[in-house]
Amino acid sequence: MAKLWAGRFQKETDLVVNDFNSSIMFDCRLYKEDITGSIAHATMLGKQGIIEEHEAEKIVSGLKEILADIEAGKVEFSLDYEDIHMNVEQLLTERIGDTGKRLHTGRSRNDQVALDMRLYVKKEIAEIIGLILNFMKALCDKSKENLDAVMPGYTHLQRAQPTTFAHYMMAYANMLKRDVMRLDDCLERMDDMPLGSGALASTTYPIDRDFVREQLGFARLTDNSLDGVSDRDYCIELCSDLSILMMHLSRLSEEIISWCSWEFKFVELDDAYSTGSSIMPQKKNPDVCELIRGKTGRVYGSLTTLLTMLKGLPLAYNKDMQEDKEAVFNAIDTVKQCLEVFAPMFSTMTLRKDNMRKAASKGFINATDCADYLTKKGMPFRDAYKTVGRLVSECIKADETLETLTLKDFGAISKMFGPDVYDALDLNTCVRERKVIGGPAPDEVKRQIAKIEKFMEQYEAVEQ
Ligand code: ARG
Repeated sequence: MAKLWAGRFQKETDLVVNDFNSSIMFDCRLYKEDITGSIAHATMLGKQGIIEEHEAEKIVSGLKEILADIEAGKVEFSLDYEDIHMNVEQLLTERIGDTGKRLHTGRSRNDQVALDMRLYVKKEIAEIIGLILNFMKALCDKSKENLDAVMPGYTHLQRAQPTTFAHYMMAYANMLKRDVMRLDDCLERMDDMPLGSGALASTTYPIDRDFVREQLGFARLTDNSLDGVSDRDYCIELCSDLSILMMHLSRLSEEIISWCSWEFKFVELDDAYSTGSSIMPQKKNPDVCELIRGKTGRVYGSLTTLLTMLKGLPLAYNKDMQEDKEAVFNAIDTVKQCLEVFAPMFSTMTLRKDNMRKAASKGFINATDCADYLTKKGMPFRDAYKTVGRLVSECIKADETLETLTLKDFGAISKMFGPDVYDALDLNTCVRERKVIGGPAPDEVKRQIAKIEKFMEQYEAVEQ
């Protein structure tokens, strides 16, 4: 089959090269962006008198038909036309004849692909933000139900201090809030319309870039044509933001995996979100969490692919840049899949508050509170710390906890202990008294939830 460039060439493309060079297998997903961009471009060409108005109209209606046919599954793309841009152009010319050949006036595939990718990424970022907000809502709802579900907080995976499940989950909600802010920021920065950059040095036609920008809903124009076709920073930024997001999802997945184990048994996943074993009849596995943890690597892989792909490229377009597509698509698909399954899995998860509390009452997580008790009675904190260390050591020997010691036991270590020590050691008190901003006290966590909900409202208002 004769290529577009057959005039310049003496031979046909080798079949292996034909396949190797082609990107239609994956960039076909850009069909809508490609057609939308072409409609705006053709309309502008007509308005500027670069092509006849009636030609522009014919092109636009041809493109609209192609779009409808693609959506109805009636179109088969061909490897021979390499990518989505040439496939659509070929289809147009087949359908409307020679007028179709005027569409590519004043444009290059280099600025065309730059435009399509930006349109696509803009749409996907908005969708991903929506999915994150969904998950944040699930975190807030679960937190509201579990404001007083006392559990141990850990450092070095050793029981450390008392907290609540709500407090714990709102930590993740805050991470996700930053993820939304990062993506929003990426969206804001990438909102430049590149069409009109041409192959690299713009064009001599009297095009109206601002008209196209407005048609396509971009905030600004790219300000340098070389940059316009060479820039993939926003893809890197996106994959970097998505990597951080996946890292957060992976950390929470890891926690849930641990909490599902018999060693913890803090939570139970719904049967619909768990899997069994092919040999061990007793098993109920948190495969979904493990897959999310595992898939994080793919998104990091996309980021590394893009950074490496671009680092040695001279300006402007190089074919290496075709490799941006699968990296970006894979990162986006992975993140969306993970968020879509995580939110309902999380919402249907049940808590074993009894086990959380049991774990909280072992491991001396109120030892700091005990030291604080002495400090409040006037003992310097370092001395109080040592005194409680001795108490803990005695408890370990006698297989006791601080709250099971008698007043006499306390008195033998320090005369400052009084009967009010038991209230100070009570886990509910320990949590309730941590009421500074950021702490786990139920009222304070309510404030944290309200703040996240307020943040989310901003976006819900935009969506409506
Ligand atoms: N399929 C190409 C890509 O994805 C489109 C741009 C082609 N430009 C070119 N000069 N070969 O990057």
